[in-house]
Amino acid sequence: MKRIVVIWTLVVSMMAAFSGCVNNASSFDEVVAARRSVRSYDSTKKISEDQVRTLIATVQEAPSWANVQATRFYAVMSDAKLKEAKAAMLNNQNTVADAPVLIVTTYRQGESGFFSGEAANEVGNGWGAFDAGLSNAFLVLKAKEMGFDTVIMGLRDANALRNALSIPSEEVIMSVVALGYGNQEPRRPERKALNEVLHIK
Ligand SMILES: Cc1cc2nc3c(=O)[nH]c(=O)nc-3n(C[C@H](O)[C@H](O)[C@H](O)COP(=O)(O)O)c2cc1C
Repeated sequence: MKRIVVIWTLVVSMMAAFSGCVNNASSFDEVVAARRSVRSYDSTKKISEDQVRTLIATVQEAPSWANVQATRFYAVMSDAKLKEAKAAMLNNQNTVADAPVLIVTTYRQGESGFFSGEAANEVGNGWGAFDAGLSNAFLVLKAKEMGFDTVIMGLRDANALRNALSIPSEEVIMSVVALGYGNQEPRRPERKALNEVLHIK
């Protein structure tokens, strides 16, 4: 009996250790390593509105200047609006051709980086762009964790998107993020040497 208890305890502790490994394996670093910019999507695999809501609810946890949350997201999912938005994607039209969702990220001017209507420092509305970028970082990583692929795109016709999606003039249009299931395995573009980008003083 004693022997059975010892073996049982051993098995349970091994399982606990193993499950710790599994958790670590799906850790932040693993999601970061798995994410790549994907430029071809499977047209047969759709994404639901609920999945987009789950995604953006996590993105809302991104930090922002004084928590003003000036970033806005336009999730383009209907056939009619996708057609219009895709036509506004300039050189990226082939990339987005089969993407089931495009997410246009904007920010409201005069909020991030501002106190009582005055720019808090020389960066001004640059902080709005900063916050929008932070939110996109959360977006692409959470999307990967949910099993989706993405690419952030800066090449787009902002005026055409503004008209197609009725985006208010006080919002600056930043990126468009394609969201879907990729059908390619992109290579990892090389990163610069750490000591070229990191200066420890
Ligand atoms: C602000 C920004 C704009 C980008 N614009 C485009 C774009 O217009 N078209 C495109 O194919 N990729 C675009 N990319 C994706 C980058 O090319 C890509 O992130 C980079 O090559 C590193 O590759 P990785 O994302 O696979 O690590 C953009 C990325 C960022 C952050």
